[in-house]
Amino acid sequence: MTDDLQKRIQAALANPQNMGEMAGADSIGTVGNADCGEMLRLWVKFKQQDGKRVIDRATFQSFGCETAIAVASLATELIRGKTAEEALALKTEELAGELGPLPPMKIHCAQLVEGALRSALEPQNVETKKEIAPASANAPTLLDSFSKPKEGGVKLTFLDGK
Ligand code: FES
Repeated sequence: MTDDLQKRIQAALANPQNMGEMAGADSIGTVGNADCGEMLRLWVKFKQQDGKRVIDRATFQSFGCETAIAVASLATELIRGKTAEEALALKTEELAGELGPLPPMKIHCAQLVEGALRSALEPQNVETKKEIAPASANAPTLLDSFSKPKEGGVKLTFLDGK
């Protein structure tokens, strides 16, 4: 990793945006990367704006990797005001925003964020979201959710970690 990228990651981590659980979220996406053990959960709240349902705010929790946290911080800002379709159309490198191009070994960190976004926003996950939204209120931390998975309560999407 270049010094320049490391500085940009540190800058994002110095003031991370949107960290933590969100009460009353409309949708929740959770992903885990089997290769590196990173896990990330994203909460999304929508609002009506100009006749469209847009993302009001998004928050996240993550274990470990600084790059994933930095990307999640930037991505949760980036998707504000976008429809679910617009947010889903963002490419991995766009989610990484001002971090710029990531080295090959760090691309999966941004893909973790992208996976959580897809888990939260893709239409086929709507049923899962309805099931896990109430359960999340009783799961105080991401760690609790992973260490004591409730039946049907958490949707894990394992990325292939290339
Ligand atoms: Fe695996 Fe960053 S090292 S998500």
